[in-house]
Amino acid sequence: MSQVTSQIENYLDENRQRFENDLVEWLKMPSVSTDSAFKDDVRKAGQWLVDKLSGSGFSTELIETKGHPIVYAESPKIEGAPTVLVYGHYDVQPPDPLELWNSPPFEPVVHDRKVYARGATDDKGQLITHVFSAEAWNNCEGNLPVQLKFLIEGEEECGSKALYEFLDGKYDGDGPSVNERLQADICVISDGSQYDHGKPAITYGLRGIAYFELLVQGPNRDLHSGAHGGAVTNPANTLCQMIASLKDDQGRIQIPGFYDDVIELTQVEKTEFTKLDFDDEDYKDELGVDGLTGEQGFSTLERRWARPTCDVNGLWSGYQGEGAKTVLPEKAGVKISFRLVPNQDPKKVANALESYLESQCPAGIEFELIDMHGAPGVLVPIDNPYMAAARQAIDRGFGTEACFIRTGGSIPVVLKFKESLGIDTLLVGWGQDDDNPHSPNEKFSLDDFHKGIKASACLWEEIANVQK
Ligand code: BES
Ligand code: ZN
Repeated sequence: MSQVTSQIENYLDENRQRFENDLVEWLKMPSVSTDSAFKDDVRKAGQWLVDKLSGSGFSTELIETKGHPIVYAESPKIEGAPTVLVYGHYDVQPPDPLELWNSPPFEPVVHDRKVYARGATDDKGQLITHVFSAEAWNNCEGNLPVQLKFLIEGEEECGSKALYEFLDGKYDGDGPSVNERLQADICVISDGSQYDHGKPAITYGLRGIAYFELLVQGPNRDLHSGAHGGAVTNPANTLCQMIASLKDDQGRIQIPGFYDDVIELTQVEKTEFTKLDFDDEDYKDELGVDGLTGEQGFSTLERRWARPTCDVNGLWSGYQGEGAKTVLPEKAGVKISFRLVPNQDPKKVANALESYLESQCPAGIEFELIDMHGAPGVLVPIDNPYMAAARQAIDRGFGTEACFIRTGGSIPVVLKFKESLGIDTLLVGWGQDDDNPHSPNEKFSLDDFHKGIKASACLWEEIANVQK
């Protein structure tokens, strides 16, 4: 049986503390991509990664774009061995609401063997495991058993616009085209989670997304709600009605044609989900809710992983200050997103939504629908030979067999890699479902971090052994 050398094992052991220190240093950089106030911090976090990769023996580049820069790094081609594209993101979600954090989001603290900070699990902590495993190979063996190409973006959390432009060749110069540069046999991403504590997983399905801002305008100014209420259409009431009209009481989305392209779960998949023994009671307890709702006829895992949905992400109108103010607001707004399943087209959803909202909009109100971003969902074939390599590597790194799961989150670029580079992706998430990504008190277990580094070191070897 193949083994990463004891030299690599020793290297990983000896460098445990330094790996943690490096991660903490990176987590201190507030690389919030969606908020322009953090533009310089995003760049610094990208540059930090470039420096780290250069120091680990990679040739690197910070690729300038119209948005945040893209980090690119390459190790030498290994004759006869596969090339692996490693994708991840160095940007993070906004840390708000700040008051709900137990410690400041960009001052990482380690408590109970977990590091708490924005970006700890999503995605800096997971992504950097691949950098450290590569460093270990380069320092112990002189080189990696496969060629690695790191493509790490700074806009994943807000729609990946610059990355799409890059992949479409917009930043190509005189040299090789982007598709030639990124040519690889398989892509590896660690930007998700294990199934549960002590239950590592390979994710084979991601949901897509269609994200909108809907602005509703009523009268030309705020009005006295006594003087005008009852005669003038209230934009806040209207917005609530429009939102409510999107789903019926069975949890079914009401936009005509919305389900036309949905691929239904097969009986085999349903059975596999059941075998995962998901417990609704534990889930309720963990979230502090006394009941669960969703599309009728589907289990919780089916609802979370394989059914489309629609959720408000932010909502505003009228008076928000202390005390009561009697006002009929002139406008209202909502940020709303649909999670899509593979085969649903975000553009088609946008058009259908616009027509549906027109049919729901009463007199006295004008609305504007802004299509913020969209990405299709994806399913990765599990009989791909590299899947077996990933399972072996996880077995060796985590000491336990990986199960196959889907997830409700989105990683927009996965389908794009399939379409433009012709490669599948191994989604090997090292995080946990309760790591609080996008929430206050985001965390990442340091045990998972080190196991992830080891599994990654094994993965390069396992992939090298796959017959091309
Ligand atoms: N790491 C997540 C994706 C994810 C979430 C995978 C949960 C597995 C489980 C990723 O960084 C993310 O949050 N993506 C965004 C994409 C969107 C902004 C286009 C998402 O899903 O909201
Ligand atoms: Zn992520």
